[in-house]
Amino acid sequence: MQEADNYISGEEMSRRLGISRAAVWKHIKKLKEEGYSILSVTNKGYRLRGGPDNISPERVSAMLDTGYIGRRIVHLNSVDSTNEEAKRRFDMPEGSLFIAETQQSGKGRLGRAWRSPRNGGIWMSLLLKPDISFSELPQITLAAGIAVCRAIGSGARIKWPNDIVIGSRKVCGILTEMAAEPDRINYVVCGIGINANIEQFPEELSQKATSIYNETGAKQDRDALTARVMNEFERVYEVFKSEGFGALSDEYSSECVTLGRRVQVIYRNKSVTGNAVMVDENGALIVETEDGRIAVTSGEVSVRGIYGYI
Ligand code: BTN
Repeated sequence: MQEADNYISGEEMSRRLGISRAAVWKHIKKLKEEGYSILSVTNKGYRLRGGPDNISPERVSAMLDTGYIGRRIVHLNSVDSTNEEAKRRFDMPEGSLFIAETQQSGKGRLGRAWRSPRNGGIWMSLLLKPDISFSELPQITLAAGIAVCRAIGSGARIKWPNDIVIGSRKVCGILTEMAAEPDRINYVVCGIGINANIEQFPEELSQKATSIYNETGAKQDRDALTARVMNEFERVYEVFKSEGFGALSDEYSSECVTLGRRVQVIYRNKSVTGNAVMVDENGALIVETEDGRIAVTSGEVSVRGIYGYI
């Protein structure tokens, strides 16, 4: 779509391509939806300003140093939720990665929606088939948090249990889901949403959410960041599977911004305030309250720093 003055009319395109003007218009509309920037000017026609800055599975693959994590990549232009896609394709091998340019119904924790605009985010899910008990499931999310934190670098830390923050705002959320029979877990889907280069957040999120780019000023290479998450994930996941979360809890604790803060948690259906003192070998947050120490597991709560989001 280029000419001497960089514009080409719809009529010219329809003639050259042998399709109707209406069909040209439909294709242009579709290209715009896919992230192409196309100018349309009356009496001049169309001009291509730039292609979409899509994730390239080939580039991601070339940067992997894993054995199985991220070795199969399903790249989608648009999907309801990559977690849902992974669940639909649960018969794919362990470590398969589902990644989308945009999600129409991105899911957050506690039934919330997860905003997943095109260009700028990394919306992805890993299909895992670990041999673990139900109680260990939340630990996969904690382990994933360590992997993301390592991969992002740049001052990224963890708000227990699974928000990755830079400064006092969130740059990444992790949602782990599973399919199980009464006595065994069939598979696990670990969904990771990273606000990599997003510049604008809606008013209601702007106090809580940010992006790596907004915090560091550095545009993120989404392919490289995806590959780093995969590489770190496999390292962490292997330790988790062979030695348990206990072997990762020191690293988790050293990255955890919640520790040393006053927090409010819902514990056994009651709101309790106390000091977050440590994350134990099971991944529970130990909170010192007036009535002694309690161990809060991530399934049970939403943690609020009493002085704000962290
Ligand atoms: C949270 O609430 O913090 C968890 C957010 C998880 C979002 C990611 S984006 C990729 C994957 N697909 C989803 O629908 N959700 C997760």
